[in-house]
Order: sequence, then C-alpha cells, then structure tokens
Amino acid sequence: MPAQIIDGAAIARQLRELVAAEVSKLKATKGVTPGLAVVLVGENPASQVYVKSKSKQAAETGIKAIDHRLSETTTEAELLSLVQKLNADPAVHGILVQLPLPSQIRSAEILRAIDPAKDVDGFHPINVGLLATAQLEHALVPCTPLGSLILLKRHLGTIEGLNALVIGRSNIVGRPMVQLLLNESCTVEIAHSKTDDLPAHCRRADIVVAAIGKPEFVRGDWIRPGATVIDVGINRIAGSEGKTKLVGDVAFEEASKIAGAITPVPGGVGPMTIACLLANTLTSACRHAGVKAPEWTKAIRA
Ligand code: GUN
Repeated sequence: MPAQIIDGAAIARQLRELVAAEVSKLKATKGVTPGLAVVLVGENPASQVYVKSKSKQAAETGIKAIDHRLSETTTEAELLSLVQKLNADPAVHGILVQLPLPSQIRSAEILRAIDPAKDVDGFHPINVGLLATAQLEHALVPCTPLGSLILLKRHLGTIEGLNALVIGRSNIVGRPMVQLLLNESCTVEIAHSKTDDLPAHCRRADIVVAAIGKPEFVRGDWIRPGATVIDVGINRIAGSEGKTKLVGDVAFEEASKIAGAITPVPGGVGPMTIACLLANTLTSACRHAGVKAPEWTKAIRA
C-alpha cells in the first residue's frame, strides 16, 4: 500500500488559523498586539525569501512584524546594539535573527544576547537547557522540530515507546528534535555523518526524521515497512529541461512505496516552520501578558 502523504501545508494553515484566533483573543482581553522583529543581515537570496514569507504570514495572522534589514558589512557591535534595543522594547515579543550571518559576526554571541523570553527561534542556551530538562512550560522550542513533532502527533496520536531515529545533529533541527521525541517517551537514536551502517539503524526505526541536508540521501529500502518519515531537507537540484527542483533528504518515490506515511518536499515540514514561529511569538506575547499560552502539540491533534 502506498504511504499516506502528510499534508504539511494544510496542517500549517490550520495552525495559523488557530494562532490568528488566539491573537484576536489576546488583543480583545489584554489590548496586546504580538510583535515580531525579523532581522536580516546581508543579501543571502534564500534568507531574503524566508524573511519575506515570515513577515507576510505574521501580518496575515494579526502579528505586527517589524523588519530590520542591515547591510552585509554590519559589525557584531552594531547587531548587538540592535538586539539590545529590541530586548528593551515592550512592543516586541519575538526576536528572530536570520541565520547564517556574515562571517565577521559570531552567531553564538548574537544568539546569547537575545532575551531568552523573546527568543522565538529557541536557540538561546537558556531555552536549549529548558528543553533538555523538560521544562517546556517556560521554554521556547525551535520551530522546525516543533513543527515536525506536531506533524508526527497529528498523524500517529501517541508516539510513546516508538523507536525514533533522528539523522543529523544540528543545533537548529537534530538536537532539539531528539529532546522533543525523548519528552514524548520515544526511544531515540541519533545518527550523523560518522554513523556506521546507517541503513541498519534506519530499518529498526518506527519514526525517521531526516535532517542532513543531502538530496535524496535516505533510500527507500532503508525504511522499515509502515514507518513514518519526516523529511526536513530542502535541497535544490538540477531537474529536467535545464530547470531546478526542490527535493528532500529522502528519496521520496522509493520511500513512499514502503513507508506508512511520509512528508513531501515541498509542502511538508517547510510550511510548519513558519507557522510555529508565529505560534512561538504568540506564546511569548501571552507569557509577557501573564496569560496561559496554548499547548501547540495538543491543540493540533487529529
Ligand atoms: N536559518 C535556517 N533555519 C533557520 C531558523 O529556523 N531560524 C533562523 N533564525 N535562521 C535560520
């Protein structure tokens, strides 16, 4: 039986609608409009596309997005000074500094300067620590792993006791994904570029999260029949007639014949990332206003 395709675009739309409803409620009850500052340094074309979508979707949800565009030659001190200004601004509930940053700026220094309570990317060491110690009620959780977890729970209901394999150990996806799956009581394995016999690890997994950034790296015959596959990769490769196309980290055609369910690329995890950024901004605005924020993984259950 072919795999069920997990429609990330539709689930992201549902999440954005929920965020929009909560934004209206916060405005009506507390007079607070959630504010999201989006900071882009330089001209990276992919970053420009992401940042534009983030600001557009924020506005559609009723969140006030404030764009800050800085030149490629911005110094670390200049960026730190902007971050400090945003930390102090009560109209700003979320601060996102788009990565990668130009080489003269040390990303870790910038991420550590962001107020953890406004860190809607969840990259500050305080948020990393809160996630690692299961204090989710105080944490802000990185958007791509959070979106991936919502898709998994939407599809599978409970994931307790399942064997999950996370391929990739980045700070943005792999590591926080491991923590989220562990919090859900999965048995979690982490694979990376030095892992021996990756196909064998994959064949034991009920859940595979592929976040390695290598086009179609995970082959269909590595997948355990019926497994759920979350493909975080977004890779642009040569297509037919001189065009390019987007593919994930998983060989979709092969894997979709064997998996129980799989996310497509595009239209899977991608739209969930931005929806979760909006959800995190609302969470932060609720906490600043002293009201309880929704539990997103429960709110979007099937
Ligand atoms: N660059 C690639 N992914 C991300 C992300 O989730 N947040 C930020 N700020 N930059 C990124």
